[in-house]
Amino acid sequence: MRILLFGKNGQVARCFQEEASERHEVIALGRDDADLSQPDTAAAVIEKYAPEVIVNAAAYTAVDRAEAEKELAALINTQAVREIARAAKIIGAHFIHLSTDYVFDGGCEGRYHEDDTTNPLNIYGSTKLDGELAALEEFDQTVIIRTSWVFSEYGGNFVKSMLHLAGERDALSVVDDQVGGPTAARDIAHAILMVAEKKQRGAKGKGVYHLQGTPPISWAGFAQTIFDEAGKNVIVTPIATSEYPTPAKRPLHTVLDCARIERDFGISQPDWRIAVRQVIDALNKEGNLP
Ligand SMILES: NC(=O)c1ccc[n+]([C@@H]2O[C@H](COP(=O)([O-])OP(=O)(O)OC[C@H]3O[C@@H](n4cnc5c(N)ncnc54)[C@H](OP(=O)(O)O)[C@@H]3O)[C@@H](O)[C@H]2O)c1
Repeated sequence: MRILLFGKNGQVARCFQEEASERHEVIALGRDDADLSQPDTAAAVIEKYAPEVIVNAAAYTAVDRAEAEKELAALINTQAVREIARAAKIIGAHFIHLSTDYVFDGGCEGRYHEDDTTNPLNIYGSTKLDGELAALEEFDQTVIIRTSWVFSEYGGNFVKSMLHLAGERDALSVVDDQVGGPTAARDIAHAILMVAEKKQRGAKGKGVYHLQGTPPISWAGFAQTIFDEAGKNVIVTPIATSEYPTPAKRPLHTVLDCARIERDFGISQPDWRIAVRQVIDALNKEGNLP
């Protein structure tokens, strides 16, 4: 299968290349190959490579900075996604795109289903939601996987930040009233590959899916687990979101129901605690554990 991947240096994209390249031709494009802040460049590369599957793992992901860069975030997270979906439909390729739990406002006490009302609280979330809508409007066969709190041994993420801080401090205050699901980039990459292979074999699934690590946890609980797994003796003091102000407002409770992706593609919810151990092992092996 020929797979065209946007966002080649991102967390999910790097894990995807490692897994998918073993059995498929993966053409990975970065900003230099296709700058998605100029959305119409996407169609030209899609036409050039004529892939059977297109994966968009590129995005404007700087949640706080997006509050001041709304137009740039919208170009990458919305307009470029529209262009990719349109081009995918024209060449008859499967299109798999990633989105976020930040499309929700976090007011749901239970689990969010894919069809529940969206109401993003920040610019990042609203540009990602507009991207979902644009993709489905252009090409209703698009598969969109909403995920959350992504971590890996690559790039910048919460696990690496906590490990770094553990080298400098013996106590940390961490937000305890935001509850969600950490999700390993490797588990997302694996799910994308399963969806791609099943779509290629005729699977009918389309539209929005949730994929989130389990069990649900707060940022403070996540931090504590990371320190425990890494053998770092750091005292975590739970604090409220109001005590840690950020430019972008974040939803308080975004636990996602993930039954639909299991039903349509046989992908079960990954346990993020196993992945934390694997990421720490990988950083250790590379001598990169701070
Ligand atoms: N990270 C999270 O916690 C999280 C949570 C929920 C959902 N998601 C979604 O999951 C997906 C993957 O996230 P991730 O954490 O793997 O992202 P990431 O590590 O931040 O990578 C995003 C990639 O997009 C590329 N990109 C940004 N602007 C671009 C442009 N103008 N043209 C071309 N490429 C551009 C970046 O390129 P450079 O390397 O050149 O900057 C980067 O490689 C995204 O759709 C994101 O919205 C992420």
